[in-house]
Amino acid sequence: MELCVIEGDGIGYEVIPAAVQVLRQVVPEIVIHAAPAGWVYFQKHGTPLPDETLEMAARCRAVLFGAVSSPSYPIENYYSPVVRLRRELQAYANLRPTRYLPVPTARDGVDLVIVRENTEDLYIGHETTTDEGSTGVAQKVITRVATERVARIAYDLAVRSGREKVTIVHKANVLPQSDGLFRRVALEIASDYPEITTDELLVDTAAYWMVKDPTRFDVVLTPNLYGDILSDMAAAWGGGLGLAPSLSVGDNIAIAEPVHGSAPDIAGKGIANPTASILSVAMLLRHHWHRLEDAQRVETAVYTALKEGVHTADIFTEGALSTQEFTDHVCAHLN
Ligand code: NAI
Ligand code: MG
Repeated sequence: MELCVIEGDGIGYEVIPAAVQVLRQVVPEIVIHAAPAGWVYFQKHGTPLPDETLEMAARCRAVLFGAVSSPSYPIENYYSPVVRLRRELQAYANLRPTRYLPVPTARDGVDLVIVRENTEDLYIGHETTTDEGSTGVAQKVITRVATERVARIAYDLAVRSGREKVTIVHKANVLPQSDGLFRRVALEIASDYPEITTDELLVDTAAYWMVKDPTRFDVVLTPNLYGDILSDMAAAWGGGLGLAPSLSVGDNIAIAEPVHGSAPDIAGKGIANPTASILSVAMLLRHHWHRLEDAQRVETAVYTALKEGVHTADIFTEGALSTQEFTDHVCAHLN
């Protein structure tokens, strides 16, 4: 088993080694290939995602990606490496589960998974400024082929994991040509799965329900941007961004990546919560390598440690452990 590991920027340097430590204990034969990407790399070398990293990721077919910092203003030759990586590798569906974890910040009873389209929508990066800088234009692209494949992933996941309902989230009332296409194609795929209940929500209403009653959701199927936003909202119910894992999947390719970013406000302090990355590795074990028992071992170790009150500062500050101390506790609970 080979894994391309991209730490990236900020807390990527802290949480990814933690996840690797756990993985090495569970799969001692794992072969790790470290590869660079990100904002710091860009500043030194002029590219945020070198070809060698892309080639290594494509060769391994499995990637662990930390997070990268992307400035909120245009920089020549810069683009988000993770967005590019997902598209280049055709990791076309991003699975973002939120399940109750035994921490005071989580909400009991929540167990949902957001399936986010991962290759198009506003994330294709076709953006210009005209009118001497006074008008910004971004292109939103939705295609039948990308919608079909992500919808299949959502419904197959629902069947495989014994779930009952898929909620299609869109804004087709305002965007009937793009989100309307997403909705129509998703409903076509839904008709192949009569055993799964399908419903739909406009994205603003979905956001309302995500806050008001997240237990009403089971599987959520949605275009790229709405999935990005709704999954951060959902993460709050799972205990916070420090605990929210994700896996981007395609045909025989997977990128394990925490939902959170590079967290510059806490980077370098050694206090970041590695749970999101560790649980992302568990998703890689389960969904990509089909090592269900190992995935369960990792999840149980995390759950047990948290249940004992072992925690990092994002959960609560009193008695908070460092990233390394927390990781050692999780490793001690692996059996
Ligand atoms: P963020 O997710 O990095 O941080 C949001 C808040 O959550 C911060 O207060 C942070 O301290 C906290 N947080 C996040 N992860 C945590 C962890 N593991 N442990 C403890 N606390 C944690 O989002 P933000 O601040 O909006 O973005 C920072 C940078 O990250 C930006 O440059 C953004 O572009 C980038 N980003 C990268 C992503 C990726 O590479 N996949 C995803 C999201 C943002
Ligand atoms: Mg996000």
